[in-house]
Amino acid sequence: MSARNFRAFWSDSPLVTCKSRTTRLVEAIVCSKPHKYKDLCYDLTPLSYNELAAGPQFASRNRVGGLANVGLFANSGATCRRLSRSRTPRMSNIYSRIVGTGSYLPSRIVTNDELASTLDTSDAWIRTMTGIVQRRIAGDGESTAEMAAIASARALGNAGVNARDIDLIIVATITPDLVFPSTAALLQARLGARNVGAFDLSAACSGFMYGLALADGMIASGRLKTALVVGAETMSRLLDWKDRSTCVLFGDGAAAVVLVSAKNPGVRSVRMHADGSDPNVLCTPSQRSRYLHMDGGAVFRFAVRGLVEAGGEMLEANNITAASVDWLIPHQANLRIIESCARKLSIAKEKVVVTVDRHANTSAASIPLALDAAVTDGRVRTGDSVLLLSVGGGFTWAGGLITWA
Ligand code: ACO
Repeated sequence: MSARNFRAFWSDSPLVTCKSRTTRLVEAIVCSKPHKYKDLCYDLTPLSYNELAAGPQFASRNRVGGLANVGLFANSGATCRRLSRSRTPRMSNIYSRIVGTGSYLPSRIVTNDELASTLDTSDAWIRTMTGIVQRRIAGDGESTAEMAAIASARALGNAGVNARDIDLIIVATITPDLVFPSTAALLQARLGARNVGAFDLSAACSGFMYGLALADGMIASGRLKTALVVGAETMSRLLDWKDRSTCVLFGDGAAAVVLVSAKNPGVRSVRMHADGSDPNVLCTPSQRSRYLHMDGGAVFRFAVRGLVEAGGEMLEANNITAASVDWLIPHQANLRIIESCARKLSIAKEKVVVTVDRHANTSAASIPLALDAAVTDGRVRTGDSVLLLSVGGGFTWAGGLITWA
């Protein structure tokens, strides 16, 4: 759309779009806070967006503003409709749908008591403060790519999809085996997939959700039909095993989902966020140290806030209440964070999938691991609304809503 045929208005009213009956293009967005709804203003030229962003000054200068202008547009042949404030319209009627999940956890179990035999910690402290009972630690042959390959083969098997039918491979990881080639490229070869696009994605514990968002977008655009999204981590390699404040919290593992294009959702929406203004709170500063560094208290507070914000955003974007969510699958970092998030979102604790006790925090693998567990044990059933929420280093955070099909 060019600036020539576009008119922008400022208004106190909720977001309203005007669509031409003939062109079906959005012709105007009436919005009091265009910055806030920037992602809804995707149709605007930069000039038009700047006009909106200029706010009431622009509006009064140009003698426009308020809902009256919607009427004006209606008189000139446009149809108007109200949008939920943060709903992103889907550009096509193609959806993505998860048709198979799979996971892999290393065989080596390290209990809290085992850690307490070499560290000044205790099973009671770790359980009370985190809900973690044990973690899995990768052995020498268990690389990130190898774990990803086993989890992916299981997901493909459960989906009934041949590796040759995959159109895109995304591996979310902050613990790749090599700087390059990517873990995803190594995975492509291990699976015997075609020479399709394969890349790693770094968004810490939100990596899987970011991957889901990208794969969903690619499928919805009609560009591809089948995508493999994997979360795989060997967090044990980032840990200082003498630092009790971090090493008790993490574990290794991988999990994968197979997404295919579908006429109905499936994935209803996924939203990603990042704020890199305070990177030292949770990081691995490879210049100075190869170990994970964390300000536990600050991470705890942000994690609750990020998960709740992502959850609220999903409820609003999909126009549903917390009561209609069947399952909440949050990032598995700490039971107290999970419980606080569920409480603040008013989601009953019986609806919350918790696996952090079994494998500790596996970063990008944590949400697909929990999803696979809940699908495998029959909790998540056809038609269920599943809310996925992540938060991680960056900070990054994301929410997704799925109708299980
Ligand atoms: N065993 C025994 N004592 C411990 C241990 C341990 N493993 N670790 C810390 N302590 C001690 C501290 O030294 C401190 O002792 P002091 O009072 O004598 O100084 C005391 O316990 C309290 O420590 P805090 O760090 O203040 O305790 P806090 O209430 O913040 O809980 C915890 C610590 C559990 C780590 C919490 O901050 C937390 O869970 N934060 C979030 C961590 C997380 O989830 N990180 C990753 C998420 S994002 C991602 O995955 C990338």
